[in-house]
Amino acid sequence: MCGIIGYVGNEDAQPVILDGLKRLEYRGYDSAGLAVLSGGTLTIRKRVGRLSSLEQTCAENPVQGSPGIGHTRWATHGEPSEVNSHPHTDTAGEIAVVHNGIIENYLELREMLEKEGFVFRSQTDTEVIPNLIALELRRDQKDFMGALSRALQRARGAYALGILWTREPGRIYAARQGSPLIIGVGEGENFIASDVPAIINRVTRVIYLNDGEMACLEADGIRLFNLKGEELKPDIQKVTIHAEAASKAGFETFMLKEIHEQPRVLHGLLSKHTSDRQDIAVDLSGLGRDYCRAINRVMIVSCGTAYYAGCYGRLLLELLLDINVEVELGSELRYRRAKLDPGTLIIAVSQSGETADTIAAVKKAKASGCRVLSICNVPGSSLVRESHAVLFTDAGPEIGVASTKAFTAQLMAFALFSLGLARLRGELSDEKLSRCLAELQKVPTHIHYVLSRKDAIRQIADKHHDGPSALYLGRRFNYPIALEGALKNKEISYQHAEGYAAGEMKHGPIALISEYLPVVCICTKTDDELYEKMMSNVREVDARHGRIIAVATDGDEAVRGLAGDIIYVPEIAEEFSPMVNVVALQLLAYYSAQARGTDIDKPRNLAKSVTVE
Ligand code: M6R
Repeated sequence: MCGIIGYVGNEDAQPVILDGLKRLEYRGYDSAGLAVLSGGTLTIRKRVGRLSSLEQTCAENPVQGSPGIGHTRWATHGEPSEVNSHPHTDTAGEIAVVHNGIIENYLELREMLEKEGFVFRSQTDTEVIPNLIALELRRDQKDFMGALSRALQRARGAYALGILWTREPGRIYAARQGSPLIIGVGEGENFIASDVPAIINRVTRVIYLNDGEMACLEADGIRLFNLKGEELKPDIQKVTIHAEAASKAGFETFMLKEIHEQPRVLHGLLSKHTSDRQDIAVDLSGLGRDYCRAINRVMIVSCGTAYYAGCYGRLLLELLLDINVEVELGSELRYRRAKLDPGTLIIAVSQSGETADTIAAVKKAKASGCRVLSICNVPGSSLVRESHAVLFTDAGPEIGVASTKAFTAQLMAFALFSLGLARLRGELSDEKLSRCLAELQKVPTHIHYVLSRKDAIRQIADKHHDGPSALYLGRRFNYPIALEGALKNKEISYQHAEGYAAGEMKHGPIALISEYLPVVCICTKTDDELYEKMMSNVREVDARHGRIIAVATDGDEAVRGLAGDIIYVPEIAEEFSPMVNVVALQLLAYYSAQARGTDIDKPRNLAKSVTVE
């Protein structure tokens, strides 16, 4: 969702900004723009649609000079159009602003500014910012930081801002409240960006701006301030990811590369959190051992795919521990009157660590005294900084908008955490732990096996991609996988898909079943009772001539007579099977999307990191 990049240094800013915007494309956008300051002259270029259109405009009519700021916009206030694209300027055209977030009181600010003589051109909330700064500059024409700070104190909502001022042509100003922004620290050059991958090829050191902080960047200096104008000491951190991690490495898309990275990612997590692969070694010190023993309730909070990981986490925690576990969407928990108290552990799950709804729910829970463990992929992200303890998923940058490796890493993190907590609380015998670890160790190899069957999965996708809809069914541990499989399909192939608990089918969706409806049934071998129940559901679909695509355990002949298509996967304990089964569904969605000719890495309307409510 909206990407920001800024550069101040000795090179021309335009190519640096365009390169940064390219690296931010994955966040999702519908228009793009940049502003370059050359001497005191501000030049702005904007285009609707893909970045290539802005690149073409800039190639035909290049701008020289530095500093510069750029933006990819994901429309919230006003349609995607050139006039609504960023950068926005004040009425006099002296202050240019790029913004990620939402200014909630923009209508009242706009009305006030109009009375003061400011003229608005766009429908955006952002346009109030440069005009508010201009208003505050009337008080003291020389103190930009003071004007910025006063302006921000009048704005309510979330923002990450990059700002140029024609009267200070060697500077970029930046500010953050609730939306991500980092500063890249270079040699004789400095950057602002929405995330590390945007500048990974340029810097090895970054400063994570905190909420309520402002910065002033020059080519050879960075100064940080709080909103009161007091200067702060920057905390410079080393970048932990490598530039290659943000490349396609020969795959046709980031998503396909990320699907293939899963065995390595999960193997890495397993090795990190098990000692000699015999015992569990999850570090729970951030929560405190006594606290872990005393937890009486767990509330998992997350959004989208991470919510489905949470649904899996609930089942596993319930299986291994004698504890109450709930799972809730961030967007719901933040407005619920749920009883939250210090005995409730919040587990927040997020790839990006920047999802506004998840973070808002976490802040609410913290205010009630809860401790927060986050399962997160991005060091330095807002969620990580809000948490008492973090279990990193270590999946590396996930660039494809559809989450794949981050999801299976979240499942593995839940498995390791549940085992670690159960062990600490004395609720897991040596024997059961060894059994679980032995099963978990099968996961990376089993995923390799599923990946090796991708041509067969492609053929199945080719047969079924053209219908208007698909149904995904699963039970217990594979119910969240049915939901995730359907979401993956919707997101990238735009084929409507619904995930259902198989036992619920007869309560409604059975009405949809006909020879035209593909029904993906996850019926891998589990304990006998559940497998039989699932097979009954498969028979019910068959009786109504649904097109059954089964995900079944290798060697299961019973499925053969029922399913038109079968994706065989290797056998593994039910509670860990989701990590394997979901890979089959990721590939199924991937090849359906490919057959339907969609833009797989950047599906329409979607943003990788949903930083607004
Ligand atoms: O960064 P997060 O994990 O917090 O993101 C949550 C969702 O926005 C995300 O999982 C979304 O549903 C993905 N596009 C799924 O593929």
